[in-house]
Amino acid sequence: MAAQHERGLVRVWRPHPGPQEWLLSCPAFEVLFGGARGGGKTDGMLGDWACHASRYGQHAIGKFFRRELEQLKETMHRAKALYGPIGAVWHESDKMFTFPDGARLGFAYLDNDADAEKYQGHSYTRVYVEELQNFPDPLPIAKLRATLRSGAGVPCRFRATANPGGPGHQHVKVRYIDPAPGGMVPIYERDEETGITLDRIYIPSKVKDNPSLDARYIVQLKMLGSAELVRAWLDGDWDVIQGAFFDNWRSDRHMIKPFAIPKHWPRIRAFDWGSAKPFAVIWAALSDGSIPAIPRGCLVVYREWYGCPDGQANVGIKLKNELIAQGIVAREEGEEMADAVADPAIFAEEGGPSIAEVMHREGCRFRRADNKRPPGWQQIRSRLEGDGDGRPMLMVFDTCRHLIRTLPALQHDQHRPEDVDTDGEDHAADALRYLCMTRPYHRPQPVEKPREIDTRIPTFNQLLEMHEAQRGSRI
Ligand SMILES: Nc1ncnc2c1ncn2[C@@H]1O[C@H](COP(=O)(O)OP(=O)(O)O)[C@@H](O)[C@H]1O
Ligand SMILES: [Mg+2]
Repeated sequence: MAAQHERGLVRVWRPHPGPQEWLLSCPAFEVLFGGARGGGKTDGMLGDWACHASRYGQHAIGKFFRRELEQLKETMHRAKALYGPIGAVWHESDKMFTFPDGARLGFAYLDNDADAEKYQGHSYTRVYVEELQNFPDPLPIAKLRATLRSGAGVPCRFRATANPGGPGHQHVKVRYIDPAPGGMVPIYERDEETGITLDRIYIPSKVKDNPSLDARYIVQLKMLGSAELVRAWLDGDWDVIQGAFFDNWRSDRHMIKPFAIPKHWPRIRAFDWGSAKPFAVIWAALSDGSIPAIPRGCLVVYREWYGCPDGQANVGIKLKNELIAQGIVAREEGEEMADAVADPAIFAEEGGPSIAEVMHREGCRFRRADNKRPPGWQQIRSRLEGDGDGRPMLMVFDTCRHLIRTLPALQHDQHRPEDVDTDGEDHAADALRYLCMTRPYHRPQPVEKPREIDTRIPTFNQLLEMHEAQRGSRI
């Protein structure tokens, strides 16, 4: 039966040569698998289980943990694709597979650390924890490890995956990476209480070890983070370098001397509220391409108002909301705003009119900004990067000194590297993020070599094709 299973699995999945094979044959009690993105970690875990289940049948009892339900769903989806063809049955209410000869694999997410208590007293032969770096505290993980025991004498194992970054970056690094940074070296630890020595090992697996992913995946990753961070993700570099968040800011490219903005360019205002901390208002105009040096679609930030006492940083001026509104209206004299967005928090009503309402009464209207953080930062990043011909899609008048001072200084959040460290002075950047989200920019894909122009008289079919293409429909 077991051999039949193995054959069955091989039909749908086999480990890639290298790290996945090593994982499946590794006798160590504890393995950290991966350490970089896209290395085939999740598939490796699922394959490891199938192998274990086929060997120990009804005595194989496993549990798969992840921090977030959404990501767990993805894993369950992949598991169904792999295990369905080898006869496993999925029980939705228990979030569990049963395999033909009795092995069981459950799935759970640990939204908070206390959830680990629930598993005390359970017995598993395999515990899998995906994306260990997402668990801020190692203690609940230790509790999960303590559930590894088998009355039937099955060798019990703990298997986890991780990437650099995340709230648990440090504890993963200390336990698995620091003792042998290159991996593939067993680390032994003697438990003083029981006298038992347990071994653990880090098996690195990088995107280049995964032939199922092509170069496009790497390009996608490059869109998500700074060069340093992407290097960390690709190479599994755990000494994550905390460089500037917007490391593609160049004052010689992005800072420009003020000029008269053409009247017909649409203008947008964005606002990040603050009182004890600075508020930030920024105004930008959308180029229509009529000025040669400024590409069509480029946002030109032409004014800022930053609520901060002169000569100080990250301190607010506690201006009343009415006065902020009046100040904005006064600065916009003679201008018409095509759009105005603000931090959605100002729309909250807490026993009285909201800040937005108060400002509205002064003639200063806003709509709620899209305040999604990583996608918003990504928008700023891609606009700074530019249109592929090296022309930035975001330019800032050199008079906007607070934006110019604070944007390049922002750091990565230590625990969420795809986000900005909110301890930094991020108010002008927040306003810029809201602003950019009103006009999402998508970098044009590089076009293939243009076809030779055919000067002959087109045939009827060619005419028809051209006509259809113009209508945007397919034949
Ligand atoms: N051995 C394998 N056979 C077939 N596809 C694989 C294999 N290993 C990985 N993949 C595929 O490669 C992609 C990335 O692998 P995944 O395990 O999700 O990586 P990670 O969890 O490290 O980000 C997925 O589409 C996955 O199905
Ligand atoms: Mg994964």
